[in-house]
Amino acid sequence: MSALQINSFKEYKEKYEKSVTDPESFWSDIADHFHWKKKWDSVLEWDFSKPEIKWFQGAKLNITENCLDRHLDTIGNKTAIIWEPNDPDEESRHITYRQLFVKVSRFANVLKNNGIEKGDRVCLYMPMIPELAIAMLACARIGAVHSIVFAGFSSSALASRINDSQCKMLITANEVYRGTKPINLKAVCDQALEQTPSVEKVIVYRRTVEPTDMTEGRDAFWFDELQKVEKDCPAEEMDAEDMLFILYTSGSTGKPKGMVHSTAGYMVGATYSFENVFQCKQDDIYWCTADIGWITGHSYIIYGPLCAGATTVMFEGVPSYPDYGRFWEIVAKLKVTHFYTAPTAIRALAKHPLSLVDQHDLSSLKVLGTVGEPINEEAWHWYNDNIGKTKCPIVDTWWQTETGAMMISPIAGITPTRPTFATLPLPGVQPVLMDEHGNEIPQALEPAEGRLVMKAPWPSIARTIYGDHQRYKDTYFSTYPGNYFTGDGAYRDASGNYRITGRVDDVVIVSGHNLGTAPIENAIDEHAEIVECAVVGFPHDIKGNALYAFVTKYDESKKSDDDLRKEINNLIASTVGAIAKLDKIQFVSGLPKTRSGKIMRRILRKIASQDAENLGDISTLLNPDIVEEIKSGAL
Ligand code: PRX
Repeated sequence: MSALQINSFKEYKEKYEKSVTDPESFWSDIADHFHWKKKWDSVLEWDFSKPEIKWFQGAKLNITENCLDRHLDTIGNKTAIIWEPNDPDEESRHITYRQLFVKVSRFANVLKNNGIEKGDRVCLYMPMIPELAIAMLACARIGAVHSIVFAGFSSSALASRINDSQCKMLITANEVYRGTKPINLKAVCDQALEQTPSVEKVIVYRRTVEPTDMTEGRDAFWFDELQKVEKDCPAEEMDAEDMLFILYTSGSTGKPKGMVHSTAGYMVGATYSFENVFQCKQDDIYWCTADIGWITGHSYIIYGPLCAGATTVMFEGVPSYPDYGRFWEIVAKLKVTHFYTAPTAIRALAKHPLSLVDQHDLSSLKVLGTVGEPINEEAWHWYNDNIGKTKCPIVDTWWQTETGAMMISPIAGITPTRPTFATLPLPGVQPVLMDEHGNEIPQALEPAEGRLVMKAPWPSIARTIYGDHQRYKDTYFSTYPGNYFTGDGAYRDASGNYRITGRVDDVVIVSGHNLGTAPIENAIDEHAEIVECAVVGFPHDIKGNALYAFVTKYDESKKSDDDLRKEINNLIASTVGAIAKLDKIQFVSGLPKTRSGKIMRRILRKIASQDAENLGDISTLLNPDIVEEIKSGAL
């Protein structure tokens, strides 16, 4: 599909201009490159005040026909997925487009055979194995809605996500190794399933030979189910706006938000951005190291690359096993041309001897990418010098679960890059900076800083929050009425290049994972000896940000601080997940509050960041004295 690729900076400028002045004809030309069962009646209808956004209304399609069927005649024997196992001694798997098509069709019949119909929600809690890709595409094939939950989440986090969208089926694996650590996914599922009455069937892929507890009537093995069905499965005809998937992301209240993505707009947005940002050519080998449990994996391991007919790598393991050279070993082995990862991984790898990089031949690399958090200057240069050998453009891609596709990013080899800058908006993306009063800060010769807002819709914008449209409106469309608010702050230089400065709400990005502080606080508050707490982020060398909790405990508490710290972190691991564990827990006798009782997190953030010299005016606090105590006990 290289017909979608922009070839020069001049062309980018022209396309961008057209996408803003005449978005309908711009996107209609792009959409013409896909396979439709029926074309659209209207390109775009939108009203941010409701909010309501509809792309390609009237069109009929199935995204799997775009990922699979239409490639069969041209590139049927090309490798679609290369899978690299956790254990370097286990064999890789190479799956062609034709093989993937057969596997997806067959598993789609398994879903049907187990009572799944168009519109039903299916939860996937799986390791990074090709069967995860197969299961998600099989859902899409029959019009079922997949809700993938990252397999590092705890059983209660899994249960609450299943319950929120009332999933009818859960698909998982028995066990998986990440590094040397076995993780019994089925056991986590069994615990979750005690609280999820909507789940009728559980399909279990046997990844290891370990014995697996199965509940009769409810649980079945993947392989056994395959034997019961035919291999052909026609693709369900979907409306453009039908729900393709739900993906949960953190919000600033306790409950995760089930972002709903559409079929047609998502497909067009993910594919168009993939084609342009990475500029993959026919024989390239593209590797995104994200987990498919996050949006990056959805859009840029599966849907974007497969729609574009690329070869996409899936890696089951971790960057540190068997040593910190694993990524580079895989790049050399597979002759990876495009490598896309998170700044946190780059920082972690940069701490280890360069010999771990230099012993591998990285000459196949052409393009490097980053995603998920701001990349600091030092990590950018390490990546550029040691991995790209200064020859590979780095695409710093800014986007969100909610945006479905990359929004602000260089186009590899075409947009001039600048370290730490995501640079310019992709065609169809209309960012503006706003001040805190909601006034637009116009592009001028002076650099500016403000809140990052979008003033018009793009095809892959999430359409709602599952079951809670009001929350969707309140979260994204109320702060700056008539606009979509990203929750991020940004700096813009005189040439219009954006650098994302970070979240301006109660979400902290830890190791590239988007974590709301509210659910973590709720978990801590569950502890019988804790009165209340506040969790904030603070800068961390490797993780970008880490979490710091200020906690008050009951006077009668008899436990040692260290014991309490352990218990708090265990509680967080079991309710939210191990990724949300706290780096620092400070016990305090009170929290700084406004007269209306609101915790002043701004002050705590400064203390946690060791930037407490200038706290601004604290006289309006209910308890200004507490600030000195907290400062002097800061960890
Ligand atoms: O704060 C921004 C940060 O990640 C947030 C979105 O997180 P999530 O929905 O989990 O999606 C991550 C993968 C797309 C954003 O609001 N973020 C993402 N990419 C960048 C970034 N911050 C700076 N630079 C980026 N390239």
